[in-house]
Amino acid sequence: MNRAHSTVPLEQQAREEDLVARVVASFDGCQDPRLRELMTGLVRHLHTYVREVRLTEEEWNRAIGFLTGCGQITDDRRQEFVLLSDVLGASMQTITVNNEAHGDATEATVFGPFFVEGAPEVPLGGDIADGASGEPCWVEGTVTDTAGRPLAGARIEVWEADGDGLYDVQYDDGRTAARAHLHTDDLGRYRFWAVTPTPYPIPHDGPVGRLLTAVGRSPMRASHLHFMVSHAGCRTLVTHIFVRGDELLDSDTVFGVKDSLVRDFERQPAGTPAPAGRAVPGTWSRARFDIVLAPGRT
Ligand code: BEZ
Ligand code: FE
Repeated sequence: MNRAHSTVPLEQQAREEDLVARVVASFDGCQDPRLRELMTGLVRHLHTYVREVRLTEEEWNRAIGFLTGCGQITDDRRQEFVLLSDVLGASMQTITVNNEAHGDATEATVFGPFFVEGAPEVPLGGDIADGASGEPCWVEGTVTDTAGRPLAGARIEVWEADGDGLYDVQYDDGRTAARAHLHTDDLGRYRFWAVTPTPYPIPHDGPVGRLLTAVGRSPMRASHLHFMVSHAGCRTLVTHIFVRGDELLDSDTVFGVKDSLVRDFERQPAGTPAPAGRAVPGTWSRARFDIVLAPGRT
C-alpha cells in the first residue's frame, strides 16, 4: 500500500532523510559548481519522488528495464530518450525556460527528431516538397526583429512530414523531400511551396509507444510545419506553425502547440490561379507566417 511520506513513522522518515543528506553531501568536493547544483538537485528531486510514491523495488526494476529498452532501440536514426523527454513535456519545459518572452518575438516549440543538416537550398517561391506526397501549400511571410525592422538574408530551414504522415528519413530509399532552406530577400520576405501539413504519430513501436498505450495516451502530433530561423544578432528560433481547425491541437502528444503558432491554411478550390507561376491541377492551400526574432545569439 502506498503512503504519503508525511504518514511514514518518524524514525523511518529520519532514516530516509539521513540517506538524502549523505548522497547530497557526496558531491561537496565537486569542483564545478554548476555540475554540483545539477547533481544535488537531481538527487533531491529523485529521492522526493521515490519517497512520495513509496516506490517498490519491483517498480524500480521495471523502470530500469524501461530505460534499458530505450537505450537498446536508440541508434543514429532513432532517439528514444528524446521521445521520452518529449512525451513527458520535459523538452517543452526546457524550451520554455530557455526562450523567455521578448516583446512580440515568435514563440519557440519542440525541435523533434527529424531535422537533417544540409537540406537543399530553394529559391524564393521554390518548392520544398520535391516530390513528397500531399496537397500543395503556399507559405509566405516576413522575418523582422522586435523593432519591426525587416531582416534581409535570414536563413530559414523548413521541414515536414509528407501527405502520408512520414518524413523522408523514415523511408528506406535515402530520399530527400519536404525539407529545404531559403533566405529572406532585402525586405525580409520569404515564400515557398510545401505540402499542407497532416497529422502523424511519433514513432510508437518502442518503449515510449508502449508507455503511451499503457496510460491511454495517443501518439499523434497535431499537423505542423517546422521552421528554424536564424540571423546574426538574433536568437535562433526553432518553431512550427499549426493548422487552425485541426482536432489534435488540444492533445498534441509532445505538448508543442501554442495558440500564437496556429495559422489559417486557407484551402483554394481547384482551378484557383496559384502563385509563382505554378499550375496546380487540384486544390491547394495557403498560409501566412510573419516571424519576429528576439535579440540574442544565433
Ligand atoms: C516532430 O515534430 O517531428 C516530432 C517531435 C517530437 C517527437 C517526435 C516527432
Ligand atoms: Fe514534426
